[in-house]
Amino acid sequence: MTISKIATRNKMTASLNMDKIFAETADPKNISFGMGLPDKTIFPDQALKTSFMNTFNNQGPDIFQYHSTQGPVALRNKIVSLVKKYYHIDVNGSNIILTQGGQQAIDIVGRTFLNKNDHIVVEGPTYMGALEAFDGYEPIYHEVNVEHDGMDMTVLEQILSETPNIKFVYTIPDFQNPTGATMSLAKRKTLIQLAEKYDFYIVEDSPYRYLRYSGQEEPSLADLDTNGRVILISSFSKILSPALRTGWLIANDELTSIFLSVKAALDVQPSHINLMAIDDFLEHHNIDRHIAKINTLYREKCLAMCDNLDKYLPEKATYIRPEGGFFVWVTLPESFDTTNLLLDSILQDANVVYVPSELQYASRSIKNKFRLNFTNSSYEQIETGIKKLSEALEAVLQLS
Ligand SMILES: Cc1ncc(COP(=O)(O)O)c(C=O)c1O
Repeated sequence: MTISKIATRNKMTASLNMDKIFAETADPKNISFGMGLPDKTIFPDQALKTSFMNTFNNQGPDIFQYHSTQGPVALRNKIVSLVKKYYHIDVNGSNIILTQGGQQAIDIVGRTFLNKNDHIVVEGPTYMGALEAFDGYEPIYHEVNVEHDGMDMTVLEQILSETPNIKFVYTIPDFQNPTGATMSLAKRKTLIQLAEKYDFYIVEDSPYRYLRYSGQEEPSLADLDTNGRVILISSFSKILSPALRTGWLIANDELTSIFLSVKAALDVQPSHINLMAIDDFLEHHNIDRHIAKINTLYREKCLAMCDNLDKYLPEKATYIRPEGGFFVWVTLPESFDTTNLLLDSILQDANVVYVPSELQYASRSIKNKFRLNFTNSSYEQIETGIKKLSEALEAVLQLS
């Protein structure tokens, strides 16, 4: 009886075995390359604890009061400096809105722009959490395949020329989740030009830009934008701690005021306690040094995963070597369905969890790929897990 009452938009992802797969990632008998978790040993836990204590000691009862929807000016001004360094953009603190992680920022964008059956473009594959957020507004998705250097711009232009009123293009240009691909400079420029030509917004979702292990940085889309078309989303989740649930939205003046009223309707304000503790942390610690430390650790882990994939992965499987971020993307021959494979054999034979590609495409049409996370496992788990996974894959690939 209950299910028949549920809005159809909430049933969209129910058939994908997502809950089962995520339950397996938490089972200690498995090695999980599934969730995109940071390595908890790198969290500055003692310093954060001190910052929370400072916040309670210095702010008095005011810390427990209601505060602004946008978030404290002091922290927004520190984010101004952060994005100047990492995105090379000059923004005003009044154009920044603090959100409950990047996830809420994505939801705010969906809620602001989308009527049912509105058209949007997403990358194929893309971040599952963004699809879940957008699904709630029942858009019509147009999916553009991601190549080693970002979205296929020919396909994008084809879609734009055939579809009037695309509201926005959602992209993760740096170390994309899940492929790890980074958009080339030429494609970034093309995307900005297309936004002008066909009149759409670009949602630049960018939680991984700080985490580069090799290669050359490209300008952010927000940096290339001259016309207020880029909405930039980022977060402290990957560079400080995801438990702080703190991300932000940066947009032009007009959008900022609309986003603020949408945000107020959602949750009135972000957690002032968390924001003031982050502000204290940034006041007393050098975030760039901390980011450099994270890069050193993850560079090694990324290398360890890629070296083991080079050593063990069957020849019929390929992967993209990322220059940063959290993920490696593996492709099997087209006839394979990595959801069934995981549930039917990989879990039993290898005790390894990955995220099947089906969940990461709006179209749910591509099934022969999967995502591996390398930041959360130990070096031993990376070596053992990739070896066992490769052996299990070898066995099924030989049968094909
Ligand atoms: C591309 C992308 N965007 C947004 C998020 C949301 O992160 P958070 O809400 O923790 O900031 C994630 C998390 O993994 C992500 O990969």
